[in-house]
Amino acid sequence: MRRTLVAGNWKMNGSRASVAELVDGLLAGAGTVASAEVAICPPHVFLAEVGARLDGGPVALGAQDLSEHVSGAYTGEIAGPMLAEYGCRYVIVGHSERRAYHGEDDALVARKLATAQAAGMIPIACVGETLEEREAGDTETVIGRQVDALLDGPGVVALASAVIAYEPVWAIGTGRTATPDQAQSVHAFIRGRIAARDAAIADGLRLLYGGSVKGANASELFAMQDIDGGLIGGASLDADEFLTICHAG
Ligand code: PGA
Repeated sequence: MRRTLVAGNWKMNGSRASVAELVDGLLAGAGTVASAEVAICPPHVFLAEVGARLDGGPVALGAQDLSEHVSGAYTGEIAGPMLAEYGCRYVIVGHSERRAYHGEDDALVARKLATAQAAGMIPIACVGETLEEREAGDTETVIGRQVDALLDGPGVVALASAVIAYEPVWAIGTGRTATPDQAQSVHAFIRGRIAARDAAIADGLRLLYGGSVKGANASELFAMQDIDGGLIGGASLDADEFLTICHAG
């Protein structure tokens, strides 16, 4: 049985004060979230403080990105072992904003997945098509290529300790959520693609949906057979809204 995961991606938002308030708000309600595992991914600079506040409680810590390298002359980068040392259980890799604004390609995302695992973290690898690709009927071609990069690089066994998030680019931060049927269809495609390599790993893999998930639409999305939780952007910046989503998990 796959345990639902609801992960908050705070992106580049917050100040020391607002982050402390948000974490306190989450902790005030997170104890009653029974079915879902909950994680938050603050900007790197807040990880130490947020981690100290979470202090091994019901909310796990995650990061939004990591370097593909373990150490060395990579100015501005953050290494996996550093994130692990600060208590990160999860790390997002290949978010569409990294792919679009930082030139990250499928091969780099696959290497980051392996680097995250080598540091003892669980990568949340993001895949998703643009609106143009969907309208051209290329959704499965694009998602298939992104998933194959993980299967051909780190390999299917690596996916036994990874999470995949399907985030259609056209749904991220737009208020335009994929319908449960649209999301389920892509999730089933992803699971099938992985099952062709290893059925048991595909069956155990958690597949999150991301893209304008809110308290009002989380239940119908999470009720779909192959949707095992969500990667939540905007709505994770509001403790009550995020907790509503967590309770839907
Ligand atoms: P959103 O972002 O929930 O604000 O659409 C999701 C994400 O980018 O992970």
